[in-house]
Amino acid sequence: MSTVVITGAQWGDEGKGKMVDILTEDADYIVRYQGGHNAGHTVVIGDSKFILHLIPSGILRPGKKCVIGNGVVIDPQALLAEIDGLLEKGIEVRGNLLISGRAHIIMPYHRAIEKESEKQKGSLKIGTTGRGIGPTYADKVARVGIRVADILDKEVFRDKLKTNIQEMNYFLERLYGAKGFILEDIYDEYTGYAERLRDFITDTAVLLNRALREGKNILFEGAQGTHLDVDHGTYPYVTSSNATSGGACTGTGVGPTKIDKVVGVVKAYTTRVGSGPFPTELNDAIGEFLRDKGREYGATTGRPRRCGWFDAVATRYAADVNGFTGMIITKMDVLDELNEIKICTGYRYQGKLYTEMPSQLNVLEECEPVYETMKGWQASTAGLSNYEAMPVNAKKYIERMQELVGVDVDIISTGFRRDETIILKKIF
Ligand code: IMP
Repeated sequence: MSTVVITGAQWGDEGKGKMVDILTEDADYIVRYQGGHNAGHTVVIGDSKFILHLIPSGILRPGKKCVIGNGVVIDPQALLAEIDGLLEKGIEVRGNLLISGRAHIIMPYHRAIEKESEKQKGSLKIGTTGRGIGPTYADKVARVGIRVADILDKEVFRDKLKTNIQEMNYFLERLYGAKGFILEDIYDEYTGYAERLRDFITDTAVLLNRALREGKNILFEGAQGTHLDVDHGTYPYVTSSNATSGGACTGTGVGPTKIDKVVGVVKAYTTRVGSGPFPTELNDAIGEFLRDKGREYGATTGRPRRCGWFDAVATRYAADVNGFTGMIITKMDVLDELNEIKICTGYRYQGKLYTEMPSQLNVLEECEPVYETMKGWQASTAGLSNYEAMPVNAKKYIERMQELVGVDVDIISTGFRRDETIILKKIF
């Protein structure tokens, strides 16, 4: 038995989709533990490209069990569209996808409230994906949320919906001057979804603990990244869940004593979508180069990602709060042509040097990044599958990342495809 948590070490979009797909070969169960269809995992297999938002990418390998844990928030319409898309491509979903009855459901009023609230915030908006993620988690924590198991019971669902709609319509109509919702419309729509989803729903905490006792390998797949974590990220410019490794326990019902490894996925540079501080952001030709060459456009919203240099301070913080046992470096090849590459090793704010991640947002917003400069390798690393073949300066860059973060590199990804990967150490 072996259990591995894989999390993003930066602001999401580190290339977890491909890495989860590779590690899935050795896993029996692949489990999503937080977030919702705000995530977007791109996986390329042969000539086919799959973008998954909610269903673990393990579904693309026959016979693997994929679990959506209790910590996830589910938009049933989006989930069913994803299931249908997979079925159309001949992927077997029934029997391989299992959904927790304790996961919370995204309702249409969550999306509407989020839209109005973002509008109201003006320049202080979070820049969310607009999927209703935040308001759904807000209802969960306020103990008024509607869970997957609730929509299976028509009476329970109607009662909860009635109370929630009254309150949400009050906010929408009185506070925001927007249109409210009609109970019967949502009731009919969601009871329809419930019937289609019924067979996928089970107690996934029981299922996973049983699997552990049977000696199965489990891969826990985090969405977003450490600096979007509601506790450890650049709050309030974060998502509303625990993307860090602790979320794998609370979001699935598997205890911390059962986790063997936590692997952080680290992009060789940094990107961020949405608002919020980003000390190493490059608003220049290099930033544009990274966006173009790295195809840095959101898999969910298509928004251009903000791009910048690798930030060792932020990544070391990620290594600590996640407890990384290893790192996976992705998108090395994007840096191939650069003659100089910078690494941020500290932040300077009002004359003071910060070498640890500050919790005050204004420090991160206004600081000057302190850089060390490394020589580029100006040779192709694209598609390499052997570490020895890496250019010397590329090896030096990886060694420096390793040194500054304080965690060993297990895998290096050199392209989108499964075989474009250098495995230094087996993770399962
Ligand atoms: P929300 O998760 O839609 O509430 O958005 C909150 C913040 O997280 C925004 O800055 C989003 O752009 C960001 N975000 C959410 N999901 C992802 C993701 O999968 N990758 C990168 N950023 C994300």
